[in-house]
Amino acid sequence: MESKIAVLASGAGSNFKALALGDTGEGKVDILLTDNENAGALNLARELGIESRYMYPGKFRTKFGIKEEEIWAQYLLNRGVELVCLAGLMRIIKGPLLDAFQGRLLNIHPSLLPSFPGLDAQGQAFNYAVKVAGCTVHYVDSGTDTGPIILQEAVPVLATDNRDSLAARILEKEHIIYAEAVKSHFQGRAVYSKVVR
Ligand code: GRF
Repeated sequence: MESKIAVLASGAGSNFKALALGDTGEGKVDILLTDNENAGALNLARELGIESRYMYPGKFRTKFGIKEEEIWAQYLLNRGVELVCLAGLMRIIKGPLLDAFQGRLLNIHPSLLPSFPGLDAQGQAFNYAVKVAGCTVHYVDSGTDTGPIILQEAVPVLATDNRDSLAARILEKEHIIYAEAVKSHFQGRAVYSKVVR
């Protein structure tokens, strides 16, 4: 039996596409939800033949309204979604979505966490002049880009890099490790309370 995955995205949706086309084990991307009517991810969903939906997130810019977050959570629960994957959702999740899906809620972040949480992680790493950057898939908890880490991939920073070339190479690795982490989750190799080390 396939398990339903919901991807929540605000932007271009390249990680959504990677999850839709990648080997995610028994999980299968069932729906894309977005808080942005102009998200590129909506076009990708149409191309891929995956159901997609814009849902109003509330009046705030970087978080959900409590009522709206409850509506999103109920929608996903009613649909029988097993796993929620954040893929460039530009909003923090602290309320009903986290309560409903803790331990079944993943995020991808373009840095080697716990370094460089928050916005423009690639720019933060580049400006810090780190020699090794990378990306992380982790379970979501109530912090910002915190929570047990499932997979990471390192990306060397080249002398010729600028912020954007580094970000592009990190993104290539994101597309690989997100599907792998989802597969691990469904195989029981990654569990919120006990991430395999
Ligand atoms: C990715 O870099 C992801 O790590 C971050 O937001 C970006 C989303 O890119 N959370 P895309 O929309 O998946 O192309």
